[in-house]
Amino acid sequence: MSFEQMWRELATVGRSAKSGGYFRQPFASAERECAVWFEEECARRSLEITRDGNGNVFAWWQPAGTSGRGVLTGSHLDSVLNGGAYDGPLGVVSALAAVDVMQDRGFTPSKPIGIGSFVEEEGSRFGLACLGSRLMTGATSVAAARELKDRDGVNLVDAMSDAGIEPDLGRSDLLDRVECFVELHVEQGRDLIERGVPVGVASAIWPHGRYRFDFTGEANHAGTTRMEDRRDPMLTYAMTALGANETARLSGQRATFGRVDVQPNGTNAVPSRVTAWLDARADSSEQLESMLAEIERLAHERCDRDGTAVQVTAESVSAAVHFDRDLADRIAAREDGDAWPIIATMAGHDAGVLSAAGVPTAMLFVRNPTGVSHSPDEFAEMADCLAGVEALADTLERLSA
Ligand code: GLV
Ligand code: MN
Ligand code: MN
Repeated sequence: MSFEQMWRELATVGRSAKSGGYFRQPFASAERECAVWFEEECARRSLEITRDGNGNVFAWWQPAGTSGRGVLTGSHLDSVLNGGAYDGPLGVVSALAAVDVMQDRGFTPSKPIGIGSFVEEEGSRFGLACLGSRLMTGATSVAAARELKDRDGVNLVDAMSDAGIEPDLGRSDLLDRVECFVELHVEQGRDLIERGVPVGVASAIWPHGRYRFDFTGEANHAGTTRMEDRRDPMLTYAMTALGANETARLSGQRATFGRVDVQPNGTNAVPSRVTAWLDARADSSEQLESMLAEIERLAHERCDRDGTAVQVTAESVSAAVHFDRDLADRIAAREDGDAWPIIATMAGHDAGVLSAAGVPTAMLFVRNPTGVSHSPDEFAEMADCLAGVEALADTLERLSA
C-alpha cells in the first residue's frame, strides 16, 4: 500500500469532526485503533512483531542471513489533545513506506531494520512525556510510573490492562536489538520553510521540563468578599503566568502555561486552588534552571502579596540532547553532493530518550508549511512527505548495507 493510501486510512481515526484535531490518547480507543492498524501493516509486510510490557511495539524486517542488532526507525501514534495528524504518525507511516521503497529498489539489508511505535510520547494522558521510551530505557522508574494517574484517576497499569495489554513495566529487552535509531518527524517550527528545503537532520534537542505549580488560597463568595480581603490563587497564577512569559521572552527561551485545573471551578466563587503546569525549554540546562528559579521567585513574591501559597513540583525534566554528529553527517549527505541542513529543535522526542540512553540516534525532519504543531493546523505537503520517505529509505540503506 502506498504512503498516500496509508495516510488516508489513518486520517479519520481519532479526528474530531468539530475541530479537525486529533485525540489519540494512549490506551484509549482511537490510539488503539492506530496501534492495531500498525500491527496489521507490519504483518502485511511479514515483519516480526515484538512487544514489551510498557506498550511499545517494534517490528523487524530481518531477511535471511541477517541477525543481531539492527537499525530502528519509527516514532509514535499518540497525539496531544486536539493535535495535528503528523506529529508521530508521519514517522511511523514513513517507516512502513520506506521499507516498501527499499524492497521495490531490490535492496536487501545486511542487518535487520526495525519500525518502532513508542507509547504515550506526548504525555497527554499520564503527564510524563516519552513515557514508553523512558520506561523501556529505565529513565523512569517502575515505582514512579505506578504512581501515574490520568485526569479521571485511572492509573497506568489499569489503563493498559483495560486496553488488553499485560503490564510488565520497566527496562525492556526490545532495546537490546537496537544498534542505532533514526526517527523521522514533521518539523515543528519554521527553519525548513525559511531555508526552502523539504528535509532536514536534527543536531540537538533543547533541555526542557514540565513543572506543576499548586497555588492555594481561600474559597469565598465572589460578591460578598471585598477585593482587599481575598486570598485568590487565580490572581497569583495569572501574575505568575505573565511573569513567566516576560522572563522567557527577555531571555530568548520558552515558558508556557498550557494546562490549568481550578477548584472548585465555579463562576461565582473565589477559587481555593489553582493547579497549573509550566512547560519550560531553554538552550542550556543552566538557562533552564535560572529561568525556572526566576519564575518560582516571581510566584512566591506574588503569594506574599496575595496571601496565597505555592508549591512547585518537577514532573519531568530532560537534559539537552546532542545527537551523534557522525550519524547526522552521514544522513545529511545527498547523492547530488549537496547536504540536508542540520538543525536544532525545541521539541521533545523518543529519539532524545534513546540518545540519552547511549543509543546512537538521529532524526530527519519534514518541512511543515504552517510552522504550527500540536494543533490541527500542523501540516506537510504530500510531495515533502514523499521526499521524507525517500530520505529515510536512503538513510536506512546506508546504515544497514
Ligand atoms: C513533544 O512533542 C514535546 O515537545 O512536548
Ligand atoms: Mn509532539
Ligand atoms: Mn512527536
